Order: sequence, then C-alpha cells, then structure tokens
Amino acid sequence: MQLTDQERAMLDGTEGAAKQKAMELLVRYGEALGAERLVDTNNIAGVPGSSNLFLRDYYKDVGNSYEAIYSLFDLDSDEVVSVPKVSAYSCHLQGGMDPALWAEQGMGRDAFEHFQKDEAEVAGHGIQLLKTCTPYLAGNVPVKGEHCAWMESSAVVFCNSVIGARTNTEGRESTSAAMLTGKIPDWGFHLDAYRRGTHHIEVEVSVDDVFNWGMLGYFIGDAVQENIPVVTGKIGHANLIRHKHFGAAAASSGGVEMYHVVGSTPEAATLEMAFGSRKPVDTIRYGKRERRKVYETLNSVGTNPNVDYVMLGCPHAAIEQIWEVANLLEGKKLHSSCNLWLFTSRSVKAVADANGYTKTILGAGGLVMTDTCSAIGRTMPQGTKVVALDSAKQTHYLPAMMGVEAWFGTTRDCINAALTGRWSGEAP
Ligand code: F3S
Repeated sequence: MQLTDQERAMLDGTEGAAKQKAMELLVRYGEALGAERLVDTNNIAGVPGSSNLFLRDYYKDVGNSYEAIYSLFDLDSDEVVSVPKVSAYSCHLQGGMDPALWAEQGMGRDAFEHFQKDEAEVAGHGIQLLKTCTPYLAGNVPVKGEHCAWMESSAVVFCNSVIGARTNTEGRESTSAAMLTGKIPDWGFHLDAYRRGTHHIEVEVSVDDVFNWGMLGYFIGDAVQENIPVVTGKIGHANLIRHKHFGAAAASSGGVEMYHVVGSTPEAATLEMAFGSRKPVDTIRYGKRERRKVYETLNSVGTNPNVDYVMLGCPHAAIEQIWEVANLLEGKKLHSSCNLWLFTSRSVKAVADANGYTKTILGAGGLVMTDTCSAIGRTMPQGTKVVALDSAKQTHYLPAMMGVEAWFGTTRDCINAALTGRWSGEAP
C-alpha cells in the first residue's frame, strides 16, 4: 500500500505504540482487501475496547483492563499498550444492557458494575456514548460523500444508501484502529465504481408503509445477497423509518450494504445514474406472489397465537415511532400475560420522556429501554415463548437465537397483540 508521510510515521511508532499497532492492523487489512491506500475518516462508529463479563474474565490473566482488551482484542497486539484518547470523531454503537432497566432485563449487579466501569473508560477516551444502532437518529449524521468507518449492518446500509456517505461494513478491530488513526482502507464503498447497482428490482405491488417496505427489503436481501439492488416501480413515498426498516431487512436476509431507489436515494436520480456504466445482471420482479411468500417466511415460526412478549424498536425506534406507540396505548392496559419492551437510543428516549410518551407507555404496562435490544442483549421477559415483532430483521434473528416462536406484522398488529395477548395479524 502507498502510505503518506504521516501514515508512515504512525506505522514507525513516532506517535506511540497504540497508533503503531493500529496502523499495522490497518495496513494488513488493506493489503488483504487489495486497497492501494488509506483514506482519511473523521466519522467512526464501533464498540471500542468494550467488554462484557465473558471478555473481562477471558482477559483476567493480563489484568482485564480496558487498555488490555483494546490492545489485545481490538488491535490484535501481542502486548498491552497505553491507549490514548481517540484522534477522530468516534461513537459507540449499541451494547448489551440498559443503563437503568438492567435488572428487568435479567442482568446482575456484577454485570452492571462492569458496564459502568467500561462506559467510563469509553467516555474517558473521547468516544461519544450514543449506544445505538441508529447513530443517525442520535446526533451522528454524516453528509453525502463523507468517508466513514461504521459497524452495524443496518447503520451501514442506511449510511451508504440513504445519506450517500461512504462506508464498508467494518468490524470492531478496524473501527477501533480507525478511531486512533483517522484512517481506513480506501476500498469498496469508498470508491465510485463500487457503488453502482447490479440487480434491477421491479416492484409490481404497492409498497407504501413501513410493514411493506420491511418485507420488500427482506425479499430483496434474499434475492441479491451481497449485491446492490436498484428498485423501481410501485414503491411509494419514502421516509426515514421506511428506509430504516427496508435496509435492516435487506442486510439480514442477505448482505446488502447499499441499495438505490430510483428517484429517492441520492445516487439514483435516474435508472442510468443508479447503474452507471454497468448493465443489470438480473431483473427481478416483486409481485403479489413474492410478497405473500415473504410474509409466510417471516411468520413460519409462529404457531401459538398466545403472545407473551411484544418487542418494538429494531432498528432503534425514531421519536415518530414512539409517538405512534404512545398514541396506540393511550388510556389502555397491556394484557396481563403480555409484556411490551420498546428499544431506542438514549437521546431519542430523552425526547420521549420530555413529551410524556415514556410515561404513557409505562402507564399501559410497557417499558422503553435504551442501548440494546432483545437480539443483541439476548434479553427478553422471563418465560417468553411467543414474540410479536414489527421488524423483519428482528424476526430473522430472535427466534433462531432465543428459541422462541415469532409473529411478524404491522406495529398496530403488535400493539393489538400486547393488548389482547393474541396474535391477529393478517397477510397483506
Ligand atoms: Fe438494532 Fe438490535 Fe435491531 S441492535 S438493528 S435493534 S437487532
């Protein structure tokens, strides 16, 4: 790889051992990718140095400190080095527990105390504690063309497709190295040529709500896997929440990191612009039959209509979604055998608190949680057997991870299930 003088100096250790280890890792990574150079980044989202009880105990022989985990685990160093404050604007993505409702999530005090210590180290190193899979809803909104280094598949696909900023799906190691150096390999989605569409998706049924956008995303991810779909046809009005659910679904059933919706996303004003000089390798239609099949797939692990847990907020809920849930629950009570947990970021919850939405949801018997979700935290109300979800992504993961049955439907279907204890959603 070609390195600048500044990059070479970091690699030579002029700026300290941690930056040297970080540069060594980035150069190895870049060479494996075939990158010719590094690119500057000042927007990084990862989970730097963070640990849970398992990692803490795993590293007990080397003192299990934040610096030990950052050095040995994140930077792949063979020695513990002193880790300075980050050099680039960096944020922490979602973690494993709610800072206030950890006991409700079934976590012990030992885990909570470790979480507090860990968080103080993250903040002390200059990393913003956004603690969400939707950093773009919590204060980190890049601009079109900006080079980022983000983890979290739903955030990556949103960053590339909806914002038009540039990131590959990075890992813990590369983001932690980028935070110290402000560099990431100039490869993949950082380059114009890589961002053009590969598959044309023609939508033949009306897709005009979050539920349908989620199902379409799930269909497309499965159909194109890691390629770049270009969507045209009867796809209705786009908004942030629809894109959020669409991209998260496409990144779950497949590995979609970027998509274009012609006339909507920033690099697809026209079909020609979306494909550039490429010809579509395939044209795939999405009609009634395909929609029905997606719905059936997502509901294939639901047989028992007695729902005991409704989980909302995957990806983390926007304030508009919390407002919707509060309106649906206003003056009502959850069924005695059903729990409702809604997940969001700390900053969005602060707005929900101020607006009285948290109080309304609490009054109905639900909880608003932050920082994590049922899949990431592996946390559900005790005894859960049947879950209702409005997220195709969470439906993809949660039953497989936690061995529960799941129903997928609209937010309203889920709230009805929470109020009655029974699933009554119907296929579109
Ligand atoms: Fe976020 Fe959890 Fe879904 S981290 S994208 S809410 S699986």
